Order: sequence, then C-alpha cells, then structure tokens
Amino acid sequence: MRVLVTGGSEGIGFAVAAQAVNAGATVEIWARREGRLRAAAQALGPSVTWQAVDVSDAAAVRTAAAKSAPPDRLFHCAGFAVAQFIDQVGDEDVAGLVRTNVTGPIHVARAFAPGMAERRSGAIVLTASDLGYVGLFGWSVYAATKHAVVGFASALRNELKPFGVSVQALCPPATQTPGFDKENATKPASVRKAEEAGGVMSAEAVAAHAWSRCGKGGLHLIPNRTSRLLFALSRMSTDLAHSFVKAPGPGAPR
Ligand SMILES: NC(=O)c1ccc[n+]([C@@H]2O[C@H](COP(=O)([O-])OP(=O)(O)OC[C@H]3O[C@@H](n4cnc5c(N)ncnc54)[C@H](OP(=O)(O)O)[C@@H]3O)[C@@H](O)[C@H]2O)c1
Repeated sequence: MRVLVTGGSEGIGFAVAAQAVNAGATVEIWARREGRLRAAAQALGPSVTWQAVDVSDAAAVRTAAAKSAPPDRLFHCAGFAVAQFIDQVGDEDVAGLVRTNVTGPIHVARAFAPGMAERRSGAIVLTASDLGYVGLFGWSVYAATKHAVVGFASALRNELKPFGVSVQALCPPATQTPGFDKENATKPASVRKAEEAGGVMSAEAVAAHAWSRCGKGGLHLIPNRTSRLLFALSRMSTDLAHSFVKAPGPGAPR
C-alpha cells in the first residue's frame, strides 16, 4: 500500500505516517522544512521518503505530485491554527490561515483525486478540526477555514463516490503537538481554559483513529467521545453546543 501524508514531519501527520509504517505501507511525507522532513523520515524508517512542498503553492503541489503515483491513502494533515478574538486577529494571520488551511487541501486533492478516480480506488482524509463543525469564541477565522475543509470534503466525497474513492474529514479536538504548543504561546487564556476543559488528546490516539477508520463510515472522523457528544449537540442546535462553552462578556478577562 502507498500512503502520502502532507504535514508528515510533525504532530498529527507524523503520527499518521507512523501508523502507516507499522501497517507495512510505503510512505511519502510532505512539509516545508527539509531538516524536519529528513529527521522524521529517519525516525520512521527506510519505507519513508519525503519531498519539501508548500501545500499553499498550487504549482509546487502539482510538480511534487507529478513525481509520485496516486496513493492508496492520502492524509492531508498540513495546516496551522491561530486563536485570537476578532478585534485582535491580524491581516497576515487571516491570509495565511486561508492560504494554508483552505487552498492547501484543495490543491492537494486536485493533484491526486483524478488519478485515484481513474484507478477506481483510494481514500482521502482531509484534516479539519472539531472547529470544522462548530464555531467557538476566539476561533472565528480558524473555524471558518476548518468549516471550509469539511464543506470541501463533503462535496468531494459525493463527487468521487461513483469512482470508488472515499473522502473524509478528520475532526480532532485539542491535540498535543508542536503546532499546539506554538498556538498556545499567543492563545487568550479564556480560550485555552475552555478548550482544555474538553481534554487534550495525544497525536498518536488521533492518528490511530484516523488510520483505523480511513475509508470506513461517514464523512466525519471524530476521534474521542467528548467530541462525538459535541458533534451530536451541534447537529441539534448550535446554541445548545455553545451553552457549554460560554464566551467572556463585556469587561470580563479574556
Ligand atoms: N493540534 C491540535 O490541537 C489540532 C486540533 C484540531 C485540528 N488540528 C489540525 O491538524 C493538522 C495538524 O496539526 P498539528 O497540530 O499536528 O500541527 P504541527 O505539529 O504544527 O504539524 C504541522 C505539519 O504540517 C506542516 N505544514 C504546515 N504548513 C505547511 C504548508 N504550508 N505546506 C506543507 N506543510 C505544512 C508542518 O511542517 P513545516 O512547518 O515544515 O511545513 C508540519 O509537518 C492541522 O491542519 C491542524 O489545523 C490540530
């Protein structure tokens, strides 16, 4: 089996690549920093190759994809998070989040989906977030990008089903990764407190769920029980889901 993991040098993507290696797959990992990619491939073992690719760059994605056959399983994990209240978030973060989190998965899917459809088999998992099905305070811009991922995955799932290709959206809650540590450096305290009340998963547990449920079940891959409850509540009523996560009001510390 051939597996491609974008964002495979660290965090959730690295843990997914480790699952694939353990299952005996040949694995290719993508990310931007060559040093991290090299170290990750070395740690994962000889069945792993890498390419330095920025997924927000359509031409770079096309060039890299042309060097590899369409994978049996494609896990798109490249992405990042910024938590800021709407009056705090900067232009650069807004543009960067949209470029990486929204156009990244679109570029990657456009590069590989036609080959998978032609072959009439394969599974695509696009990493969204629990913020891809419910928006919470402090996360408006990031939630917009992750709702976009779920919407894209939903439409693509419908489009590719007749060709034997499965598409799913991985929706992890807070997960301990290098990216999580980085976003926590600027995250408002109230956002962090609300998020951590739901618990923080390990990247390994998220990856184990993504690997075992890949190509099986419905659109959303939701890796723990608390998030599945949040998902069910959000389907009934957004306000009901929000009643468990109250935003700070006027004058309250953020
Ligand atoms: N950790 C969480 O709490 C959490 C929760 C829900 C969803 N998620 C989502 O899960 C995904 C992985 O998050 P993580 O926490 O594992 O992040 P991470 O630890 O920062 O790892 C991100 C990986 O993606 C790569 N990457 C980032 N931007 C890229 C780009 N433009 N092109 C190519 N590769 C890129 C990084 O390598 P380079 O920097 O070298 O490119 C790295 O390999 C993201 O989409 C994130 O939004 C995370």
